[in-house]
Amino acid sequence: MRVLVTGAAGFIGSRVGEVLRAAGHDVVGVDVLLPAAHGPNPVMPPGCHRVDVGDPGALGPMLAGVDVVVHQAAMVGAGVDAADAPAYGGHNDFATTVLLAQMFAAGVRRLVLASSMVVYGQGRYRCPAHGLVDPLPRRRADLDAGNFEHRCPLCDEALRWQLVDEDAALRPRSLYAASKTAQEHYALAWSESTGGSVVALRYHNVYGPGMPRDTPYSGVAAIFRSALEKNEPPRVFEDGGQMRDFVHVDDVAAANLAAAHLIESDHHGFAAANVCSGRPISILDVATALCDARGRSVSPVITGQYRSGDVRHIVADPARATNLLGFRAGVDPQAGLHEFAFAPLR
Ligand code: UD1
Repeated sequence: MRVLVTGAAGFIGSRVGEVLRAAGHDVVGVDVLLPAAHGPNPVMPPGCHRVDVGDPGALGPMLAGVDVVVHQAAMVGAGVDAADAPAYGGHNDFATTVLLAQMFAAGVRRLVLASSMVVYGQGRYRCPAHGLVDPLPRRRADLDAGNFEHRCPLCDEALRWQLVDEDAALRPRSLYAASKTAQEHYALAWSESTGGSVVALRYHNVYGPGMPRDTPYSGVAAIFRSALEKNEPPRVFEDGGQMRDFVHVDDVAAANLAAAHLIESDHHGFAAANVCSGRPISILDVATALCDARGRSVSPVITGQYRSGDVRHIVADPARATNLLGFRAGVDPQAGLHEFAFAPLR
């Protein structure tokens, strides 16, 4: 089939394009080469065109003969401050509405959408006494005292994290999260009005070769990896007990391929699926794995510092991706992080 990949020059989009081509598909790539992601001397992968998804005149012709769109183009990260809001709204949401309108005009009815676990907000927690509860925001006094766990709103006991499945409420807490949630909502409305098929893939913490170096918009894997390159210790915030799911970019690409195949064959309507390794890991263990791989020339430093707005634990349930897409991550985080310790960065 013919697949349009947006964000095709990016860390994830370029790998998705390679995997689709290797599976025998005809891939057209577009990318606007944002300086924040690509620096001053961007490299366009072969077969890709410099196109802003938000420009209908440029995007429209790219959709000729396309069977499936795999939409990876986005401004990522948590955002620096409120001044970033128009950029997230423009690149992520306005551009997605243009894409959906142009797909409608061109008769393209299949979309794989790159979403994120950030749509879930704070994650899922259980109180030993009261069961599942919505945690209150963490109190500054607790954080200052080194008590990092969420507390039960009913009895103040420390809560335990639970796997988050796709039926959890969407509660975005950052500009990026708001923009990803809005993308999903536009795509859902589009599928209902056009009869189109959408699979939204909610990526967890993606890492792997080709990841951009650390910027104010980078996730922790890029920050730790960049520190090691300078022979500086990874600085672990809180107590390092924050739980995440680190998923290798090759697995993310495989999930996109599986989603494209699913909607090519028989899927209708909107579905969302977590894309994760299914093997949760703490932030301290991530830092330790990277340091160990590099022969422990440096060791992680647990700073006890915290960032306001950080999520304590967010860990995905992989079951729906397996049931819906037949997707199971192939890269174990310990092995993947070992390789990532030396992998080239962008
Ligand atoms: C990250 C991304 C988010 C993305 C999600 C899933 C950013 C800023 N966040 O969210 O956009 O959707 O993964 O792919 O890109 N930490 C340290 N030391 C540091 C930096 C961070 O210990 O130097 C800790 C933080 O306190 C946090 C954890 O690492 O507990 C993860 O941080 P980060 O990767 O920034 O954010 P996520 O919430 O995982």
